[in-house]
Amino acid sequence: MNEIWIVDFGSQYTQLITRIYRELNFKSLILTVEDAVERLKNQKPNFIVLSGGPQSVFEDKFDYSVFFNTHIPILGICYGMQLISQYFGGKVEKGVQGEYGKSLVIPKNDFPFNQFTAWMSHSDHVSEVPKDFQVILESENGLIAGIHHPEKKIWGVQFHPEVIHTEKGTELLHYFAKQANVAETWQEDDMLGECLNSLIDLSNEKVLCAFSGGVDSLVAASLVHKKFPQSIYCFFVDHGLLRPQDYNHIEILQNESDLNIEVINAKDLFLDKLQGVSDPEKKRKIIGNTFIEVFDEKVKEYEKTHGFKFSYLLQGTLYPDVIESTSPHKKDGKSVTIKSHHNVGGLPEKMDLKLLEPLRFLFKDEVRKIGALLDLKKTWLNRHPFPGPGLGIRILGEIDNTKINQVQLSDQIMYEELINYNYYNKCWQSLTVHLPIKTVGVKGDGRAYEEVICVRIIESRDGMTATWSHIPYELLDKISSRITNEVPGITRVVYDVTSKPPGTIEWE
Ligand code: XMP
Repeated sequence: MNEIWIVDFGSQYTQLITRIYRELNFKSLILTVEDAVERLKNQKPNFIVLSGGPQSVFEDKFDYSVFFNTHIPILGICYGMQLISQYFGGKVEKGVQGEYGKSLVIPKNDFPFNQFTAWMSHSDHVSEVPKDFQVILESENGLIAGIHHPEKKIWGVQFHPEVIHTEKGTELLHYFAKQANVAETWQEDDMLGECLNSLIDLSNEKVLCAFSGGVDSLVAASLVHKKFPQSIYCFFVDHGLLRPQDYNHIEILQNESDLNIEVINAKDLFLDKLQGVSDPEKKRKIIGNTFIEVFDEKVKEYEKTHGFKFSYLLQGTLYPDVIESTSPHKKDGKSVTIKSHHNVGGLPEKMDLKLLEPLRFLFKDEVRKIGALLDLKKTWLNRHPFPGPGLGIRILGEIDNTKINQVQLSDQIMYEELINYNYYNKCWQSLTVHLPIKTVGVKGDGRAYEEVICVRIIESRDGMTATWSHIPYELLDKISSRITNEVPGITRVVYDVTSKPPGTIEWE
């Protein structure tokens, strides 16, 4: 079968493991513990990876013998390694201090790698290896960083090989899969075929798309449109938290794409509901709920005037979204929420629509490839990601029209300069953030006491991890001087030099 199953214990990095294995041409998929147990009743993968997770093995009472008695090679990462140690009679100790960040890892017992830097993120740790296991890696602090049972082909690593900060992480994952005798059979065409085949017959259905103009909803809608052009309707909600580039883009799509796009202006309602709210999660919830309210109302009106009913809701859900909303033991549970990402969560239930998610097994760059095959323009597909709550999470604290205007103007300046310097396509995402602090400056001949715009430009493969972009000083200088000159109320510009982890891409 040549499959690698990644059993998800809720780590923020789980999907990166799949992504790396796909890039290495191994077929791999992510499963919850529940799904993996169910499938093991009549399927046998070649290799199982137990992912990291935020919980502690001391609280986990699940019986994992179903994994460990199968004679299938296993790799445990972080939490996964602790589960292995506990199950086979080693000792796991509750962490007092923990290890977070980069640590040097030193090979032991002829493990065929040179020392390397690894990304650690754990508090509990394995203090004694189980019987018949050997230590293969040790951290510079003298903690056990890797274990191996040669006969059973079981490995455990305490760090995250899937995170970009781990040197040789990809080589390590490749090494374990080869040791487990998995063959490289996965090809990009499989991904395309699966995606196209996942479309059921929609010729007699009406499909509604919550359209943002971003790459995901554009590709999802174009995919459905290609096969069922009469069935798909795109609704775009303007919540007023958009940038000039978004308004221009929607206009271009209305004129140049084949899609039927309705624009709903709800700016005032959103701003009204957000008045006086400064908590980031509250803002996200209000934006999400208002979106559903507006959308629902407009769609009902549309159905009445057009005399039909929608039966499906099309969403450009990607793999990272799917994984983030699953939990290890339950089908629909939630794992630790760092930020609530799901812009239109709850929409299908509220509107009694069935969900259509043709991109749910793909990563962003894979979606871009499909878009290219659908003949969508490069400039549409290469747009930077933009979050559903929009500028609502780029204005720290309370939102008002002045701040929206400041972020809109500064974003437009940054965007124009990135294009001018031919840098837009070199970075994953670029944003400007309004900071709610005042600093002293000089404007003209007078003292100014005004606010700050932060410019954040990052490089990434999928938004799961990121590094800040080393953009040319000249470009940074141009962006900064234009913002302080052209945006009223801004005297100072700062550049964000934080990677993810530990920072997230958005500030809220
Ligand atoms: P963070 O800030 O979590 O962002 O590092 C990772 C990526 O996700 C985007 N993002 C969102 N996208 N709805 C979205 O559609 C959201 O609520 C949301 N929050 C963050 C972010 O722009 C980055 O690309």
